[in-house]
Amino acid sequence: MKAKARAHTNIALIKYWGKRDEALFLPTNNSLSMTLDQFYTETMVEFDSKLKSDQFILDGMEMDQRETEKVSLFMDKVRRYTGESRYALIDSVNHVPTAAGFASSASGYAALAAAAMKATGVNFSEKELSKMARQGSGSASRSIYGGFVEWQKGELADGSDCYAVPVLEQGAWDLRVLSVEVTHEVKKVLSREGMKRTVETSPFFAGWLEAVAADLVEAKAAIAERDFTRLGETLERNALRMHATTLGANPPFMYWQSSTVQVMEAVQVLRESGVEAYFTIDAGPNVKVVCQPKDEERIFAELMKLAVVQQIYRCQVGPGVNYLEI
Ligand code: DP6
Repeated sequence: MKAKARAHTNIALIKYWGKRDEALFLPTNNSLSMTLDQFYTETMVEFDSKLKSDQFILDGMEMDQRETEKVSLFMDKVRRYTGESRYALIDSVNHVPTAAGFASSASGYAALAAAAMKATGVNFSEKELSKMARQGSGSASRSIYGGFVEWQKGELADGSDCYAVPVLEQGAWDLRVLSVEVTHEVKKVLSREGMKRTVETSPFFAGWLEAVAADLVEAKAAIAERDFTRLGETLERNALRMHATTLGANPPFMYWQSSTVQVMEAVQVLRESGVEAYFTIDAGPNVKVVCQPKDEERIFAELMKLAVVQQIYRCQVGPGVNYLEI
């Protein structure tokens, strides 16, 4: 019983920041993302009764016990849910520049959930895939779908109503994301740790929850109307609000470096000259710039002039999970 799946990363336009249940990966707020076409993970899962434990190969290299344990914990959740009892060989290849700090956990767990569920021989729905991927990494719940996607926080304590739903399909709106790499450095505070500290200690977190609910309504209306200015203003504001909560945490922390701020300023300068570009930033120093196709070349050229910019990856709206021949 084996299967292979490909899943793409996504960039949150309205951020997931805070959990109401850490063990089940239940968020405090709904979030909204765009799936990206350039970055993805391909994973093959084969259940095998001869195996005495799970085996994990990443980018052609057999992983050590620590790395394998993380994946094995997730596979235990898959086994519990599906009734599958065998261990598995997991062979995964990342087409994500992880060294550059672009997250691979979203595409990684979405591809793993999809391949593992398929390899059990049962056809699970996308909703079930989303719930399973969520339990590897929250943002992975959104990578099951292409296009624009909303992850609903749900209300129930068992997480059964907590999954992503498609908002707008891949081909329905052509937006571009320039992923601007300013450093190769590994991030200091992982998103999981950062959101936990913020929930527990930041007095700004209550304000975040209030703001993010309104930002989500605004972003969904903008997407429905294909109103780029409205979406851009909303996504940039939402990213800044998320990052503001980290400054109020104890101990405080921030994901930006001076190079991050230089890119943010360059985007603002571009806007003042009439070019519509908006930035968003995740739990790291790199910046993603969202724009329309007509402005992409100009923005790319301007940002490449900055000395702090090491590389820019150009992304379009990407597809949802698909299954590959083995
Ligand atoms: C800032 O999904 O990486 O990128 O659920 O703990 O694995 P875990 O966290 P993760 O957090 C992503 C946070 C973010 C915002 C977002 O993608 O919505």
